[in-house]
Amino acid sequence: MSFDTQIDRRGTHCVKWDKMEALYGVSPKDGIAMWVADMEFQPPQCVQDAIKKMLDHGVYGYYGDETEYRAAIQWWMKTRHGWTLNPDHIFTTHGLVNGTAMCIDAFTSPGDGVVLFTPVYHAFARVISAAGREVVECELVNTNGRYEMDFDAYDAQMTGSETMLILCSPHNPGGRVWTKGELQAVAAFAKRHDLILVSDEIHHDLVFPGHTHIPMTNIAGLEDRLVMMTATTKTFNIAGSHSGNVVIADPDLRARFAARMAALGLSPNSFGLFMATAAYSPEGAEWVDALVTYLDTNRKIFDAGINAIPGLASMQMESTYLAWVDFSGTGMSREEFTSRTQDAAKIAANHGPTFGKGGEDFLRFNIAAPRAVVEDAVARMQAAFSDLQ
Ligand SMILES: Cc1ncc(COP(=O)(O)O)c(C=O)c1O
Repeated sequence: MSFDTQIDRRGTHCVKWDKMEALYGVSPKDGIAMWVADMEFQPPQCVQDAIKKMLDHGVYGYYGDETEYRAAIQWWMKTRHGWTLNPDHIFTTHGLVNGTAMCIDAFTSPGDGVVLFTPVYHAFARVISAAGREVVECELVNTNGRYEMDFDAYDAQMTGSETMLILCSPHNPGGRVWTKGELQAVAAFAKRHDLILVSDEIHHDLVFPGHTHIPMTNIAGLEDRLVMMTATTKTFNIAGSHSGNVVIADPDLRARFAARMAALGLSPNSFGLFMATAAYSPEGAEWVDALVTYLDTNRKIFDAGINAIPGLASMQMESTYLAWVDFSGTGMSREEFTSRTQDAAKIAANHGPTFGKGGEDFLRFNIAAPRAVVEDAVARMQAAFSDLQ
């Protein structure tokens, strides 16, 4: 399959297309869905073949013996990320929102503060609040269109009730690939305030040339407080399999997590396991390389087109396929720029405030679509804001 192929997902129980009219007032008939973080592409053939094999066999019973699955994860992390992991340290959760919720459940108590660097992936705050913990928003600093951390400010903000920090690495939204120095500073901050550090690295495979993702586990000094989270689902566009990996090296934390998994009776579905085993392979790797090359051109087209509109600024994506566009330079109210995007351009994009403090003037656009769709989106935005030209 070519990434240029346009696949009609409407009427397939696809949240991105089939819920956008209800949520954004953008009709799927002539609108473009650019909100939910899944891609408009089919996964690689090796993943399709794994599903076909299940289908041909036709019996969908309980899965057993995860040796091959765990070896595939181990191989991927070693060859793609320079991370040597012990397969016995892997837990498979019902995706990484569930993985996050499980960490909150296992390692914090009601009323504890959980620190986020905002704006950040909105589901973190949702599960923290739903669990009766307090969201502690440490706002990233937007320095000339690039997010940075300000640890002096964050140190001053801590009250002592915080017990966990959730890091999004690479960062959604904003697309930062945190540098080694930044990760070391995050590690030092976690130690200083005695926080368990949950590093959500779900976007780690989608990194653009010139940037290198460093797994948090390769940063020294976190052995007794680190939880790593990864998944095949963003990388290979198989989010419907609801499967994620929580990797815990520390024996005490691992035992606590295992106890909660057991208490809740959680075990993974076989579709996710078969797909992940097939995806984490040389064929899968080749596909990801081609995908990143394709997305790299998409982001350049999107950024060039959006940044040509006076007052709009798309943050430079170092990673992910999620463009984070700042409308503050237009001087318009949020209602105005959102309405122009939804009602005039007919594009459904995520609203910035859902990502927390610092997101107020932003919309997030998913550019993991055939190039023609991205070009169409840029043209629509230019037309919707043409009076600014
Ligand atoms: C940082 C981050 N974590 C987790 C998820 C969702 O994970 P899952 O679908 O495995 O629950 C997303 C989806 O966009 C994400 O951006």
